[in-house]
Amino acid sequence: MKNTPTEILRLEGVSKTFPLKKDFFGRVKKLLKAVNNVSLFIKQGETLGVIGESGCGKSTLGKIILDLEKPDRGTVYYKGRDISKLKGKDYREYRRNVQAVFQNPQSSLNPRMKIWEIVSEGLRINFKLSKKELKERALSLLNEVGLPSSYADSYPHQLSGGQKQRVAIARALALSPELIVADEPTSALDVSVQAQIVNLFMDIQEKKGISYFFISHSLPVVEAVSDRVLVMYKGYVVEEGKTEEVFKETAHPYTRLLIESVPELFSKKERKAVTTLEAEDEELEKGCPFYPRCSVRKRECLSYDMESFKLTETHKVSCILYL
Ligand SMILES: Nc1ncnc2c1ncn2[C@@H]1O[C@H](COP(=O)(O)OP(=O)(O)OP(=O)(O)O)[C@@H](O)[C@H]1O
Ligand SMILES: [Mg+2]
Repeated sequence: MKNTPTEILRLEGVSKTFPLKKDFFGRVKKLLKAVNNVSLFIKQGETLGVIGESGCGKSTLGKIILDLEKPDRGTVYYKGRDISKLKGKDYREYRRNVQAVFQNPQSSLNPRMKIWEIVSEGLRINFKLSKKELKERALSLLNEVGLPSSYADSYPHQLSGGQKQRVAIARALALSPELIVADEPTSALDVSVQAQIVNLFMDIQEKKGISYFFISHSLPVVEAVSDRVLVMYKGYVVEEGKTEEVFKETAHPYTRLLIESVPELFSKKERKAVTTLEAEDEELEKGCPFYPRCSVRKRECLSYDMESFKLTETHKVSCILYL
C-alpha cells in the first residue's frame, strides 16, 4: 500500500482585510482586501509555490500561515487542528514546526549576536541545553547549510548576502520544522547566488522531507522548486495546480500575462509600464478583479463570484471562460 503523505497545513476560506483610508475622524473609510477567501493545503515533503505581482497578498498569506497575522475569516488548520484554538504545549509545537525564512537576511539577523548564537537561539529558548551543547548543534547546522564552522564566532556583517541567507536557513532548521514559509528567500541576492540558495532549499527537502510554502517573484525559481503552484491576483487564488499544469497548461488569462511578461511585471517601478493590456487598476465592487486588465473579458465577468472550476483533479481556475 502506498503511504499517503500527512497533511501539515490547511487553510479554509481565509480572508484578511486592512484599513486603507481613514477619514478626518480616524474612521475607516475603505478596506483593502489583502487575502480573499483562500483555501489551500500543504502535505508533508512537498513545495507549494506562490506567484503573483507585488501587493497581491503573498506575504500576508505567509504571515497567516505563521500566525503572525490573524485572518478576519476562515480557519488555519495545523495537522487538522484549528490553530486559533491551540493552547500551551500544542501551540508551541505548531510554532516550532512552522518556521520562516524571509527575503532580507540583513534585517532578519541580529547584528550583535554571533552566528552560532543566532542559529541556536530557538534551541536555547525551547530546550535546556548547555552553552557547549548549543554551540555543537549550531556547528552541525552550519555544516548542513554549507557554511564552514569557522564562521560560528563571526557576526552577520562579516558575511556575504548568500552566507547570511544560509544562516537564516540554519536558524529555521534548528528546531527541525515540518514546514518552512520562505518569503522571497532569494530575491535580495545576486543572480549567481540565487541558484545556490535554491539548490540548498531543494537538498534540504530531499534529506529531511520537509515542506515549503515558497513565495517568489521569480517564475523560473518557483517552477524549479514547486510541486504545486498558486497564482494570486488581488488577494484571490485565480489558478492552482501541479507546476506543469500551471506553467504548461496555463488556464487563467492573468497567469498567461504573468508568464508572458516576465520579468517586467515584477519590478515595482516598471509595473506601470506593462502596456499589453490597459493596466489601469480600477477597483471593482464585484465580479472578477482582473476584469479591467483582461483581454478576453465578457460582460458576465462583472457578476462572476470567483467560484473556481476544476479542470483536472489537481488543476483549478477561477475564470468565467471555463464555466
Ligand atoms: N499591515 C498592513 N497594513 C495595511 N496594509 C497592509 C499591511 N500588510 C500588507 N498590506 C497591504 O496588503 C496588500 C498585500 O500585501 P502583501 O505584502 O501581502 O503583498 P505581496 O504579494 O507580498 O507583495 P510583494 O510582492 O511586494 O511582497 C498590499 O496592498 C499591502 O499594501
Ligand atoms: Mg511580499
